[in-house]
Amino acid sequence: MNLKIAILAGDGIGPEVTHEAVNILQAVAEAGGHDFTFTEALLGGVAITAKGTPLPQETIDIALDSDAVLLGAVGDNKFNALSPDKRPESGLLQIRQILGGFANLRPSVAYPALSENSPLRPEVTKGVDILFVRELLGGLYFGQPRSWNKDASAPGGGEAINTMRYTRDEVVRVARIAFELAGKRRKKLTSVDKANVLECSQLWRATVDSLKSDYPDITVEHQLVDSMAMHLMNVPRNFDVVLTENLFGDILSDESGIITGSLGMLPSATIGGKVNLYEPVHGSAPDIAGTGKANPLGAILTAAMVLRHSANLEQEALAIEAAVQQVLTAGHRTADIARGNISATVTTQQMGKLVHSALAESIDRSQSLHAV
Ligand code: IPM
Ligand code: MG
Repeated sequence: MNLKIAILAGDGIGPEVTHEAVNILQAVAEAGGHDFTFTEALLGGVAITAKGTPLPQETIDIALDSDAVLLGAVGDNKFNALSPDKRPESGLLQIRQILGGFANLRPSVAYPALSENSPLRPEVTKGVDILFVRELLGGLYFGQPRSWNKDASAPGGGEAINTMRYTRDEVVRVARIAFELAGKRRKKLTSVDKANVLECSQLWRATVDSLKSDYPDITVEHQLVDSMAMHLMNVPRNFDVVLTENLFGDILSDESGIITGSLGMLPSATIGGKVNLYEPVHGSAPDIAGTGKANPLGAILTAAMVLRHSANLEQEALAIEAAVQQVLTAGHRTADIARGNISATVTTQQMGKLVHSALAESIDRSQSLHAV
């Protein structure tokens, strides 16, 4: 199979973790006789520095011409003083909009080997397997009008505006994806909103309810976002697929990093548009960039999602996930997950190599099985 993958490594730890993810994809390609091509392009702070804009046209062209876009991380403190539309993050928001994917899938799985890492008790996190479906192209992130009039002395000054806006169609399309994914899992859908205060949330809830009859085997529950934040830490095992609008999903998915023990473990895939976009949930972590402390597992698990959602290589995706589990079970830890009784750490690169060897062994085993 041929797959053209655009690599937007971005800022901070983005390039380091993406490098390890690409190595893993290359190993899968070699073993399976697939032809994966990787084309690098600039996004975020690195693009501002090199080209004066967080999303150069060349990057847009490369991304639109590929089968999948794999992103590292975006954000650099150097640009904190810029207005939101000029910052590195605006490049990320624009590329999301251009690629058109509206359903951002963020799995949050409690790995048994990391049960000591979460501040939550192991009996609380045991067996947790949640899939967040975060709406990615609407809500406060994109709603108009938006502004900040910094001149407090001017008429209408000292005021900032962001708009939360959703249409029924925007809710329908992401909700359908969540219903369908729930159908392939434990058949429970939790829809998150703030319907006791916000009209957008009332629309959200009514729309989800109106689709229920199309999916009679799915149990639907609604949770207000504030109590959801609490239940997520208290009874995370109660949740299967969790559907949220854009900002609520941003917040709750970071919170769910607590279940896994580190934000560095969480992958994501954005589907439904022209080209799927894959990015680990963690940020650019400029404080540890270049120190070898970054955890590449979120990026590597994101590579597994590329294979699952853009290449239909489910077995290969499972093999990567199993290799990650195996490395963790063997006790290897990057700095962010070195707690409990394991304190020795490996670097970003070493972790990548460990997963690579575990994967190569499992590929060898399955090839010799096929050979008999
Ligand atoms: C995420 C990030 C982004 C977001 C930022 C970097 C714009 O926090 O992917 O969760 O808010 O969507
Ligand atoms: Mg976030």
